[in-house]
Amino acid sequence: MAFQTEITKWYLHNKRDLPWRKTTDPYVIWLSEIILQQTRVEQGLPYFNRFLEAYPTVSDFANATEEQVLKLWQGLGYYSRGRNMLFTARQIQEKYKGIFPVKYDELILLKGVGDYTAAAISSFAADEVKPVVDGNVFRVLSRYFGIDTPINSTEGKKKFLALANELIIGEVPSLYNQAIMEFGAMQCKPKSPLCSICPLQADCFARRNNLVNVLPVKEKK
Ligand code: ADE
Ligand code: SF4
Repeated sequence: MAFQTEITKWYLHNKRDLPWRKTTDPYVIWLSEIILQQTRVEQGLPYFNRFLEAYPTVSDFANATEEQVLKLWQGLGYYSRGRNMLFTARQIQEKYKGIFPVKYDELILLKGVGDYTAAAISSFAADEVKPVVDGNVFRVLSRYFGIDTPINSTEGKKKFLALANELIIGEVPSLYNQAIMEFGAMQCKPKSPLCSICPLQADCFARRNNLVNVLPVKEKK
């Protein structure tokens, strides 16, 4: 069975029940993705819920003061994320009249939104065909396809993005993107991946060649 089919099937049977997966509201997805940028799911979850309760829409967020936002952010670290969020919410209020954009090309222009986050929002909210490439995805692709180009090199980033762009063609972007990230987080974990119960083990390059602990390669800078 194809890589994408196995990953998606695995996801439908094993996914965690997470609130931001039940919405296509780009504002809610943005909120979750910014919080999860440098924060673990378990730690970020209560913050996500509190923010959404305080600011149900991006317009509510835009009307907050920096003091209020940073108070809610307390404990999450990287406070520039909170400040950037307020800046972005106000920008969306002004430029888009409070209607959160869903197109990758518009999202990428927002403060604090890089390639990963723009791909996540556009695919989850509107099924735009953009692959998410985060640490989880690097690891899964590197191991399964046996790619040893360093994931933090210019060449590596290009190579993995090109592969990710091919793999997503013909898939449901929102489903496939969630699936490969969840697979990396829960199954193909950095340490002690669950290879012996992995649906991909028969075709996985790293598993077949005893390279699971070697891949992905990261170069020292
Ligand atoms: N980490 C970052 N984005 C995530 C998502 N959408 N689901 C689970 N974990 C994540
Ligand atoms: Fe990852 Fe192991 Fe599955 Fe390969 S067999 S995809 S290394 S969990």
